[in-house]
Amino acid sequence: MNVTDDAWREPRFPVWDRAVRLIHWSFPIGLGLMWWSGEQGRMDVHQWVGYSLLCLVMTRVAWGFVGSEPTRFTHFVPSPSGLLRYLKEGGEYAGHNPLGALSALVLLGLVLTQSLSGTMSRDDLLFEGPFSYWAGDLSGTMTEWHEINWQLLQGFVALHLVSVGWYQWRKRQPLLQAMWRGKAGHKHARSAPKPLLGAIAILLAAAAVLWGLVSVAPEAPSYY
Ligand code: HEM
Ligand code: HEM
Repeated sequence: MNVTDDAWREPRFPVWDRAVRLIHWSFPIGLGLMWWSGEQGRMDVHQWVGYSLLCLVMTRVAWGFVGSEPTRFTHFVPSPSGLLRYLKEGGEYAGHNPLGALSALVLLGLVLTQSLSGTMSRDDLLFEGPFSYWAGDLSGTMTEWHEINWQLLQGFVALHLVSVGWYQWRKRQPLLQAMWRGKAGHKHARSAPKPLLGAIAILLAAAAVLWGLVSVAPEAPSYY
């Protein structure tokens, strides 16, 4: 929804529900831990935080189909003509603007790829992801992809931070307040935000499926 009035000064209307905000803020914390643990070889931490990020990002993707109106993909993914119009004319949006929508899709895709490739990676020494034996010969490719995708993820996170800063301080659009408090200055959704409980149920279901798969996945044979 394009917003042009002064109501931005008093953010009152719900835009980002609690599920999206909690999942969002778990990303900088989780990725920071993954970076540290990956570099330090603390695979105990890496594995568990990695599983949590995988379940959180899967929950966000599912929430994009069944969550509150502004968080749904059908609501914010722009058409090519909508994107072109935005690039030519600009405008303010209570939810993601068309460029923000693209960046959201790319970031979610990268976090998903990073955590999925991790489950099939191995460090050829002490640790292997739970599905690395299932992945067979692909495991080497997945390990390489885990490293390449990490570079991409860092690049896009940097771009994300620069663009959020640009909108926030140069264009004076309070995106941070919206992602922190969940309110925007303009009415955006016709329906009320969905309760957090729904997202928690999806998260638990994702964790149960992952746990089931990890328990049945065969361990790689030991060569030592
Ligand atoms: C470091 C890892 C980060 C990742 C992977 C990440 C990812 C994302 C994603 C996927 C979205 C879309 C939200 C959704 O629809 O689910 C988003 C939005 C947003 N992020 Fe981040 N984020 C990160 C860090 C940060 C940090 C540190 C800040 C604040 C300084 C921030 C500020 C925002 C804001 C304000 C939005 C809303 C943008 C809009 O209105 O279009 N993010 N981020
Ligand atoms: C978003 C989630 C994840 C992030 C950001 C991440 C990040 C990283 C980083 C930065 C490294 C070090 C890469 C290097 O040395 O160049 C690494 C290595 C590794 N990660 Fe992850 N990781 C994630 C998820 C996972 C998961 C879920 C698993 C498996 C349970 C996993 C398994 C591994 C393994 C086996 C290595 C060692 C690969 C090697 O030696 O080349 N990762 N990860």
